[in-house]
Amino acid sequence: MLKKKICVLVSGGGTNLQALIDAQNRGEIPNGEISCVFSSKAGVYALNRAEKNGIKTVVLPRADYADNQSYSRDLLKILQEEQADLIVYAGFMVILDRCVCEAFPNRMMNVHPALIPSFCGKGFYGLHVHEAALKSGVKVTGATVHFVTDVCDGGPIILQKAVAVQTGDTPETLQRRVMEEAEWEILPRAVSLFCDERIFIENGNAYIKE
Ligand code: GAR
Repeated sequence: MLKKKICVLVSGGGTNLQALIDAQNRGEIPNGEISCVFSSKAGVYALNRAEKNGIKTVVLPRADYADNQSYSRDLLKILQEEQADLIVYAGFMVILDRCVCEAFPNRMMNVHPALIPSFCGKGFYGLHVHEAALKSGVKVTGATVHFVTDVCDGGPIILQKAVAVQTGDTPETLQRRVMEEAEWEILPRAVSLFCDERIFIENGNAYIKE
């Protein structure tokens, strides 16, 4: 099987990118290779993580664009030039225009820090997700990896993992536990399953071949 080219999209600290790099370095993504890290912001720490590991980086600041459409068009060109087989949103905070989703159907995945369909959609990103979970009083939250479609956080769910909410949690402590116990585990696993060609879609849902 030819190694799949993985392009990782980031906007911030990049701990999920680090989980992917670590999994790759441990040989846990045998049929894939991170070929490029793309950032919507200059100077973010995720870029240092890529550079330290000899991975090519591209920065296209969202702030330089008037709207999502023109930004998405330029990003799409870069992704196509890169010949990416899989695009992974790892803390990527831009909602892209449908032209990008349509160009890579079931080839873009996102990690979301809650159990979709809870605490997701427009406005639910980063710490806001954990603030909303704590406010609602849920006792269990978690993370989801799903394919990206033009419906925000609405694409086929690939993997989910639950995480307990603890008494006294703050958005920050909950965010950290969800990352450690769920995101950093299920994102590399979903990427590896994709590269092994073990994910299939039936009636709009994603399933894993055993
Ligand atoms: C992660 O918790 C990720 O799930 C979340 O932002 C954080 C990025 O952290 N993404 C979203 O909320 C997207 N809707 P990282 O930069 O350290 O990976």
